[in-house]
Amino acid sequence: MRKIVFATNNQHKLDEVRAALGEEWTLLTPRDCGITEEIPETSDTLEGNALQKAQYIYSRTGLDCFADDTGLEVEALGGAPGVHSARYATDDHDFAANTALLLRNLEGVVNRRARFRTAIALIMNGVVSMFEGCVSGVITEAPSGEGGFGYDPVFRPDGFDRTFAQMSREEKNAISHRGRAVAELARFLSDDGPQPVAIREVQNGPDNKKIFFSVKMKR
Ligand code: IMP
Repeated sequence: MRKIVFATNNQHKLDEVRAALGEEWTLLTPRDCGITEEIPETSDTLEGNALQKAQYIYSRTGLDCFADDTGLEVEALGGAPGVHSARYATDDHDFAANTALLLRNLEGVVNRRARFRTAIALIMNGVVSMFEGCVSGVITEAPSGEGGFGYDPVFRPDGFDRTFAQMSREEKNAISHRGRAVAELARFLSDDGPQPVAIREVQNGPDNKKIFFSVKMKR
């Protein structure tokens, strides 16, 4: 079994990623590695935050690791709330308040196109690879459904007549931004996945560990 650290303590995400990676991988959490403090995410991009979190883990453990960051990007709002999705309305991750603010900001707006986007940064053998997953859809006029979390009650993915909150967890995971990004990561980590084809940049990480940036992997 190979060990890898996922920079989250969110059980729902851990279950989803564990299922996608399969038995070959032992998934560790920051807590398993003695990291109990909140991992900083101060970048103004999803990719920046994912990389910042992965680098934090790597610099303290030296273990292969990855981190994710997700945002809801609404066309008519110029991509907002985007990287600020968790704290759109208040500082305390209030899903209901975030959703209410989003609906208020879209009152009377005809273009309701939006997408969820997840960035994953992987550091493996000191090499960084980035993965992305997106799902496009529309913001509904009012919340529907009890399932999921966050903006799920107001996001209806293209090709469906239900919101994410009206879908089963399996149904959502199969088409979701995070599901797709994790599938890319899983493909990469499996033996038949693509390997990084070029090294773009070298940085000295904390503790003088070298961190290499590979080109972004896309299939
Ligand atoms: P995180 O980076 O996964 O913590 O996501 C940041 C924020 O985006 C969350 O606090 C939610 O508000 C929102 N979000 C992320 N994933 C989802 C999802 O699958 N459904 C609805 N909202 C989500």
